[in-house]
Amino acid sequence: MESNERKPFIYDVTLRDGNQALPNPWNNAQKKDVYLQLLKLGVQGAEVGFPASSEMDFESCKELAQLTHKMAEEGNEEAKRIVVSGLARCIPSDIQRCWEAVQYAPHPRIHTFLAGSPLSMEYVLHMTPEQVKERAVSCVKLAKSLVGDRGDVEFSVEHFGDCLENMDFVIDELKAVVEAGATTINLPNTVERYRPALYVNQIKQVYEALPKNVTISVHCHNDLGMATAATVESFYAGATQLEVSLNGLGERCGNTNLYEVVVALANSGTPVDLHLERIYETAILISQWSGISIYSRAPLIGAEAIVHRSGIHQDGASKTKGMKKGAYRPIDYAMIGRNQNDSLSFTSQSGRTAVYEIITKFGYKLSLAEASELQPILKSISEKEGELSAERVLDVFRDQLVNVNG
Ligand code: KIV
Ligand code: ZN
Repeated sequence: MESNERKPFIYDVTLRDGNQALPNPWNNAQKKDVYLQLLKLGVQGAEVGFPASSEMDFESCKELAQLTHKMAEEGNEEAKRIVVSGLARCIPSDIQRCWEAVQYAPHPRIHTFLAGSPLSMEYVLHMTPEQVKERAVSCVKLAKSLVGDRGDVEFSVEHFGDCLENMDFVIDELKAVVEAGATTINLPNTVERYRPALYVNQIKQVYEALPKNVTISVHCHNDLGMATAATVESFYAGATQLEVSLNGLGERCGNTNLYEVVVALANSGTPVDLHLERIYETAILISQWSGISIYSRAPLIGAEAIVHRSGIHQDGASKTKGMKKGAYRPIDYAMIGRNQNDSLSFTSQSGRTAVYEIITKFGYKLSLAEASELQPILKSISEKEGELSAERVLDVFRDQLVNVNG
C-alpha cells in the first residue's frame, strides 16, 4: 500500500469544461448552486467559467468571485481557501476580462492557454513554435502584472498529450513561461489518443525539468475511457493539481471524474482533503441539474455498482458484509455517503446465499439448508421470468410455506 504525504490539489472544471459541453448550459443561478455544492465538497480550486466567452459568463464568474469573498468574510472555511479561476485565451483582451471578473475572490487566478502540439500550431493557430512561445510569455507577463501578489497565474499547453514529438520545445516554452510568472503549469490531454503510460511519462519529463516550486497540473479528457488512470498515475509521477469534474462532465466523453480519482487516491493511502461523504449526494444533484443521467454501471455512483448477481459473488459479498473491504466491493460505500452496500438480487445464476439474504432481510427465519431447497425452484422461475425482485422471491417463499404447512 502506497503512502504519500503530498496532498492533491483538487481543481474542479465542472463550471467551465463541464458547462460548455452541456446540451443546455446552466444559467447563472444554476451555476451558483453547483458552485455552492463544490464548496460543500471542499475542493481546493474551481474554474468558474470563461469570462470573455459571453456577457453572461462574465457576470457569473464575477458573481461567484464576489460570493466567495462574502462567504469568506462570514467565516466559511472552504470559501477562505478556494482558488477561484477563470479561463482566458492567450489574448490580452481575454486576460483583462478574466481579471475583471475573478479579482474579487480571496484567491483569484487567471488561467491562460495556448496550443503546443505540432498539429495545432501548424493547422489551427497558423503560428511557428517561436511565435507560440513569444505569445505565451507575453500573455503570462500580462496576467502576472494584473494579479500581482493577490492571485496567481496558470498556463496550459493545450494538446500537451499530442506533444510526444516536440517535448524539447514544450519544456523550453514552459521554462520561459515560469520565468514570466506562471506558478501552475497545466498539461492537458486535450484528446485522449494513446495509452496512459505515454502521457504519464511526458508529465514526469516536465516535472523533472521545471523548478520544484512550480505546481504541475493534469487535465485529462476521457475519449478512450482512461482519464482516471492517467490522472491518478500522474499524481504519483509529480503532478499535484488534478483537474477533474463532477460526474465526469466535459467535452465529448467528458473530463476526468472527480469521484473516481479521489477514491483511488484515498484507497492507495494518499490523504485527500475533501468531504468524501458528500460525493453521492453531489452526484445525484449534478445529474438532476445537468439533465444527464448517471450510467447504470458508472463506477461508485451507478445503480449497478452495488448489485451482485452471480452465486459466487453473492456468497463472497455476504461473507464480507459490513467489512471495510468487501470481497466484491471497492469501498465501504458509506465513505461516499451511499448507504446501501451490497445489494443482492435473484437471477438464474444466483445461489442459496441470495435466497437466504433476501428472505432474512425481510425478517423471516430461514436456515441455509432451507434456502438451498428453495433455490432451484426460484432458479426455474427466473429462467422464465428473468431477474426476480425481492417481492417476487418473498411471494415464492410464502407459497412454499403454504404448500409445506398445508
Ligand atoms: O482540454 C483542454 O486542453 C482544456 C484547456 C483549455 C485547459 O480544456
Ligand atoms: Zn478540457
